[in-house]
Amino acid sequence: MTAKIFKRTLVTSALPYANGPLHLGHLAGVYVPSDIYVRYLRQRGRDVISVCGSDEHGVPITLKARNEGISPQEVVDRYHAINKKAFEDFGIFFDIYSRTSNQVHHETASEIFKTLYEKGVFLEKTSEQYYDQEAATFLADRYISGTCPHCGNPSAYGDQCEQCGTSLSPTDLVNPVSTISGSKPVLKETKHWYLPLDKYEPWLREWILEEHKEWKSNVYGQCKSWLDQGLHPRAVSRDLDWGIPVPVEGADGKVLYVWFDAPIGYISATKELTPDWELYWKDEETRMIHFIGKDNIVFHCIVFPTILKAEGSFILPDNVPANEFLNLENDKISTSRNWAVWLHEYLEDFPGKQDVMRYVLCANAPENKDNDFTWKDFQSRNNNELVAVLGNFVNRAIVLTHKYFEGRVPEVTGLTDQDRATLEEIKSIALCVEQSLEQFRFREAIKNGMDLARLGNKYLADTEPWKLINTDPERVKTILNISLQICANLTIVLDPFLPFSMKKLRGFLQFGECTWDQIGTPDLLEAGHMLGLASLLFEKIEDEQIQAQLDKLHLTREENEEAAEVSPQKEEITFDDFTRMDLRVGTILEAEKVSKTKKLIKMRVELGIEVRTIVSGIAEYYEADALPGRKVCVLANLAPRTIKGIESKGMILLSENPDGTLHFVEPSGEAVNGSEIN
Ligand code: 2FM
Ligand code: ZN
Repeated sequence: MTAKIFKRTLVTSALPYANGPLHLGHLAGVYVPSDIYVRYLRQRGRDVISVCGSDEHGVPITLKARNEGISPQEVVDRYHAINKKAFEDFGIFFDIYSRTSNQVHHETASEIFKTLYEKGVFLEKTSEQYYDQEAATFLADRYISGTCPHCGNPSAYGDQCEQCGTSLSPTDLVNPVSTISGSKPVLKETKHWYLPLDKYEPWLREWILEEHKEWKSNVYGQCKSWLDQGLHPRAVSRDLDWGIPVPVEGADGKVLYVWFDAPIGYISATKELTPDWELYWKDEETRMIHFIGKDNIVFHCIVFPTILKAEGSFILPDNVPANEFLNLENDKISTSRNWAVWLHEYLEDFPGKQDVMRYVLCANAPENKDNDFTWKDFQSRNNNELVAVLGNFVNRAIVLTHKYFEGRVPEVTGLTDQDRATLEEIKSIALCVEQSLEQFRFREAIKNGMDLARLGNKYLADTEPWKLINTDPERVKTILNISLQICANLTIVLDPFLPFSMKKLRGFLQFGECTWDQIGTPDLLEAGHMLGLASLLFEKIEDEQIQAQLDKLHLTREENEEAAEVSPQKEEITFDDFTRMDLRVGTILEAEKVSKTKKLIKMRVELGIEVRTIVSGIAEYYEADALPGRKVCVLANLAPRTIKGIESKGMILLSENPDGTLHFVEPSGEAVNGSEIN
């Protein structure tokens, strides 16, 4: 089968949720590869546009807003701006970075829903879902918490128990509670629209499994497994007050499911970008490529294509080069556990080193399996590859030219076989980069690209111009000319991967931007051309810098471990249960250690109602002498107990840290003795 020739390419990159900042996993999985690909196509002079933007709907956004006591719009406004800037800072270029709260997107998604509705594509089904009567709202799975039926965790969510990892349905939870009002939800009927994926299954099987055998094995494999398990109708609406209203009669309080509208965001973004948007979406000569992470595969390979196919006028993706996940120091990246390297923090710690991270994430991309990012690997790739290979070669070529020829590109005085072979090699290396990129093999591509710098280093090491300069300066002219041609070619070959550094290198060479076709053409840098001054292209990263990053992560891990040790919530009680306790503010009047005990202190406590004797096990944490005058909280109506022959009437409230240390629960200074705590 001959490959189809396309006139133009539309590259989409997954729209990140605007509910938090971006981390390295995002860059490695989606945006570094998509940016490299687009830059490469541009250099080849192809007609390509790249669209992305913020995914601003869905429950995670409303949850974040609720947790912070702000509106969903405020959440998305904040993170849209932060994430847009983070991409710009890392040189991840999009022709448009749009957002799904835009009017044009609401219209586009509504139109597509309406078209499908009018064509009778959807199934309408009524089912029972949890409803919060106090808040008068249906509850998304994440808004319901309760006890996990598997492990007893009292704070499991309606979709998942984070303690044992089981995925749940809200009706699995024991004692479900609405996290919105705290009330017990009731089951209530609600109507939704379903995309009948099962009906499209034969078509999807043919389209993916037969016509797209060239897709990456991780993507093809996941699709095959979904298809083999059998597809089911999937609801494309939700009961939620944040999102795009379902644009049909009788759908009050319902919005489009975020995974229905989000991929349509690619269409809306293209519409915003150009009046010619239909060329990119409706012309069979356009090649559409979706860059995504592995958790998005089913939506981009099965759900969205089904929507496009059912609508009828759109093209389908030609490839979906999804990556797997990047782990961090042998552990899953996790936003909630703060186990992540945030992009803005990286740039604060390593200013100007965007390319180093781009390089490491590409060279170590989780292309076919999950992969691990370690700071040690980051350091060694920087020091041993970027500094020692690329930076070193470029520096030697330019510095020697300044030293021997006053910074002017010397002429070629005659070519040896090795010179010819070296010049030939430039083109073959570029061809390898090309082939790797065309097949979305980014790790291989960057390694091939670096081979050009390796070629340069080897050439200098073999020819040793510094030894010849006194005996054969004519030969040195040729050697440096060829070395500088390699430098010029590097600025083209490596530009998609390392755009900041290649711009810098062009500055050193006083050399403009070139196209891919110019790679390997003779005399890219003409003899006599005056070079600029060079500084270091890359700097060594020291052990201390790496240790600081590891310490930061280590601290996070310790904090997480402490948090994990906090004991789970006890069984629920009613308010009446609580009011049976008589809690009072008191002041310690006297305190003495109970003799022959290690832990006990006997106290006389003024409780407003009377002065009590209370014995408490705090001697390991408090000196008796220091206690008189301290305000404490007391459970006053606890039945008296005799401890070491002393009747103790009541209990002083203490908090216990995970390490077992005890601390008084202190009322504030204004609380008076005898006042009730409730
Ligand atoms: O996984 C995510 O972050 C989603 N917001 C990706 C959406 S991709 C596209 F459909 F918009
Ligand atoms: Zn559980």
